[in-house]
Amino acid sequence: MELTVKKAHNLKGTIRVPGDKSISHRSIMFGALAEGVTHVTGFLAADDCISTMHCFEALGVEIERLSETELKINGAGLKGLKEPSVVLDTGNSGTTTRILTGILAGQNLFAVMTGDASIRKRPMARVVEPLRFMGAQIWGRGGGTYVPLAINGSTLKGIRYDLAVASAQVKTCLLMAGLLADGETILTEPSKSRDHTERMLELFGARLSIDGNRYTITGGQQLTAATVDVPGDISSAAFFMVAALIAGDSTVNIENVGVNETRTGILDALDAMGAGIELANSSNLSNEPRASLLVSARQLNATTIEGDLIPRLIDEIPIIAIAATQAHGTTVIRDAGELRVKESDRIAALTQELCKMGADIEELEDGMIINGPTPLKGAHVNSHGDHRIAMSLAVAGLVADGETTVEDSEAIAISYLEFEGTLAALIGG
Ligand code: S3P
Repeated sequence: MELTVKKAHNLKGTIRVPGDKSISHRSIMFGALAEGVTHVTGFLAADDCISTMHCFEALGVEIERLSETELKINGAGLKGLKEPSVVLDTGNSGTTTRILTGILAGQNLFAVMTGDASIRKRPMARVVEPLRFMGAQIWGRGGGTYVPLAINGSTLKGIRYDLAVASAQVKTCLLMAGLLADGETILTEPSKSRDHTERMLELFGARLSIDGNRYTITGGQQLTAATVDVPGDISSAAFFMVAALIAGDSTVNIENVGVNETRTGILDALDAMGAGIELANSSNLSNEPRASLLVSARQLNATTIEGDLIPRLIDEIPIIAIAATQAHGTTVIRDAGELRVKESDRIAALTQELCKMGADIEELEDGMIINGPTPLKGAHVNSHGDHRIAMSLAVAGLVADGETTVEDSEAIAISYLEFEGTLAALIGG
């Protein structure tokens, strides 16, 4: 599929973005392991979370879809998952693959898991290795580095483990395994990654002790079914924030966006660039804060993005790179080597594709240097099979001369089915 975008000067309107992907995945996982019926609203019904849903259905969990975005999950209990008769397909989803590995390792079943071409290249040793310290029996390609993974559930024991990189997927995998294990599991991470799991553990009645970036969980605690209202995904909102900032005379109001501070690095980075985004209607539901974001076109300045800020905006770096091409000065992004092992090698993909549009961008091993502002020109660019690259390039097309065609745009369905429609409504708005 291809998505063609033309220059736009005036994006106007009030929009909502679909549910948060991280929270949607977790709502199914927690609902599946809880006692009782969990009710989910605002669920993200895009491909990644549907992969999670299908995996849990294959594990014997009954999930009722009341509407596109509303689910009822009949909890199977902490160790109540059933042995699947099929290979579990995690699709494009690193979150599903990594967290599910930890959940399956402590169940009484045998399971095999694989995914698409991108997932088959992504590193799994970061979860397999610590799970093996807990006593897990896992086999996989490259000694457990890549899927397919085969997992023979066993009795796990708690460990102390220091994560090498800040990763919510690894942290969550080990917290879930810790919940299923005997004794205490103590984790540390080098800087704080998104904390949706910690918040959801509390919502489902489990005790977790948090001391800075140190987490302690005791095994055997039951989860109790809860109501989860999923806020809009700030990672999806980010495309329209940047679109509104750089396209002519735009003003866009994005309602009900999750503004958990472990995810709002994008707001801090854009603020440092002079974006002046206003927050309104703040509230808190299901232990997750949310607000409306009011964004108007602004002259942006360059910034430096590094260190502890990186995990707070890791998924937004592609769209920040687009903003940087239109900002005055030199934007430096570093300490972001994790981008090389996302759905695509996002550093290589962005550099390659933005060069085609005339951007001044240099690749670093762990980031990028972008000089701006540069007039972009329409081009044929490619998503590299990565939803966030596809949507970022489409936004770049809004400020490029002529027409921009994003090839392999079907990747957008991984996280945002309505992206093209919402963009068209704002352009027409
Ligand atoms: C996610 C965590 C992040 C993020 C991914 C979703 C999650 O990955 O990039 O899109 O839901 O836990 P890492 O934990 O590997 O950094």
